Amino acid sequence: MLLKLRPEPGAEKNKYMIPFVDLRANYANLKGALEGAISDVCDSASLILGAPVEQFENRFASYVGSKFAVGMGTGTDALFLACRALEIGPGDEVLVPANTFIASALAVNMVGAIPVPVDIDADSSLMDIAAAGRSVSKRTKAIMPVHLYGQVMDMDVVSDFATAHGLKIIEDAAQAHGAKFKGRSAGAIGDIGCFSFYPSKNLGALGDGGLAVTSDEALAEKLRLLRNYGSTKKYFHELAGTNSRLDAIQAAVLNVKLDHLDGWNRARFAAASRYCEGLEGVGSVTVPKFERSDIERHIFHLFVILAKDRDGLSEHLNGRQIQSGVHYPIPFHLQQAFEHIGFGPSSCPVAESQASQILSLPMFPEISNRQIDNVVRAISEYYG
Ligand SMILES: Cc1ncc(COP(=O)(O)O)c(C=O)c1O
Repeated sequence: MLLKLRPEPGAEKNKYMIPFVDLRANYANLKGALEGAISDVCDSASLILGAPVEQFENRFASYVGSKFAVGMGTGTDALFLACRALEIGPGDEVLVPANTFIASALAVNMVGAIPVPVDIDADSSLMDIAAAGRSVSKRTKAIMPVHLYGQVMDMDVVSDFATAHGLKIIEDAAQAHGAKFKGRSAGAIGDIGCFSFYPSKNLGALGDGGLAVTSDEALAEKLRLLRNYGSTKKYFHELAGTNSRLDAIQAAVLNVKLDHLDGWNRARFAAASRYCEGLEGVGSVTVPKFERSDIERHIFHLFVILAKDRDGLSEHLNGRQIQSGVHYPIPFHLQQAFEHIGFGPSSCPVAESQASQILSLPMFPEISNRQIDNVVRAISEYYG
């Protein structure tokens, strides 16, 4: 039976009847407040750092329960400058999960260190700490837990591992704004936590943005220097830093959106729960495993299923005008860009096998029950 879908209100301009994310709907709901905040920054003519950036840094630090937050140009730069602040460099290794967005590994590469791929746990698709134990060496300086898809790693296990091996912890919380492990926020548990405000993130700017949090004052000071040409006083440079500051207009946007983050995360969790109920027992689909009574451990930046014949299913959904994604099709160690680190096929068998099965379904706070049910119906239809 062919599904007949009518576009959701506000979705007319999307090519898909059910888009993967709907940034237009999000903007439409906050248009007045966002335009007011942007216009205030323009009126103030204080366009670099200044009040909106400081205000957002302070509010975000207290939101996640860290002492300090330092706004940066992107999440990639936050990870890069975290590595710099921790003095990671040539000859050092950092443990990075094989399944992550390339930026986690790029940041390590940017300081001249080696990102060592660690295989993932089959249930969560997050870094497998037992595998990390097999990858650690004398050169390992840090571990980078990535709270992928919005689910926080077991940070007790990560912290014990880091302590046992004398490693620093750089949390990649780019997909986990507001997620919590035992009441502590993703990003605020390790030495430095890094966030991205790429527009489609749970907390997204209207352009690029990033930020690092830490409760160590000396590290915070170093991060502030590094993002601003290594300088606190104009034309005096203590460190060879870079220019990567959170833009004042983006900070003003994020100040408006931060008030909505918890509500959006709850809406994502409700959507994920509905998907799981609908997809129970459908074909070869495996839905994410998460604790239904803990609405903070997984905040569903992405809703990722495992499916045999993933490409066929995604084509089928595409034919029904349902957009989907793959996060991520190639583990970072198998990317051409990382040939030089010398980890070939079979280095991380679980990640390599899941790369051909993972499929991300439409997920955004404004997704309606009808849209979810239509995606579920289309998947059921595929499996007959
Ligand atoms: C897991 C992860 N790490 C790092 C980044 C890099 O962030 P950005 O795109 O802001 O540079 C992203 C997002 O794009 C991400 O998803």
